[in-house]
Amino acid sequence: MSILSRWVLKVGWAFVLLMMSGVQGCSQEQTEPRGGTETGVAGESVPANLKEGEQKFVAHCSRCHGVGGRGTQQGPPLVHKIYEPNHHADAAFYNAAANGVRAHHWEFGNMPKIEGVTPSDIEQIVQYVRWLQRQAGIF
Ligand code: HEC
Repeated sequence: MSILSRWVLKVGWAFVLLMMSGVQGCSQEQTEPRGGTETGVAGESVPANLKEGEQKFVAHCSRCHGVGGRGTQQGPPLVHKIYEPNHHADAAFYNAAANGVRAHHWEFGNMPKIEGVTPSDIEQIVQYVRWLQRQAGIF
């Protein structure tokens, strides 16, 4: 084999390897948004039947519990394993809104009772929060 053809072979292999790694990089970029941590953030991915719940959550709860239930300086994330259905059943949500919550899990202080939310608002909010929790793999 001549030096030239060896060189062509080497460059050829380098090219093939480059292509393969290029293809891999591409497919990773495509799958990341679907499996990544952004799932469950307010946006297109929220199912149509949960949009109203999302809006009500944003209107009444997210100033403390954060966009997508991820928490703020004022309140804990509801997308958290301590708020999964076995630990905090749906009733905890109705109670929290109607009566407020005495601080016991965190250091944020008490949750005040939330004026202007009806039980049917809470029903929709709970469905939205449960969906967020499922998206995050909490239950
Ligand atoms: C002014 C801030 C604030 C707002 C607004 C707020 N929360 Fe909270 N919430 C808190 C804090 C702080 C806690 C944590 C208390 C603790 O330490 O356990 C909490 C706890 C909770 C809990 C857990 C209750 C329990 O039994 O431990 C639920 C459920 C909840 N909030 C739901 C809601 C919902 C639903 C809304 C909107 C309708 C809402 N919160 C609005 C601050 C807030």
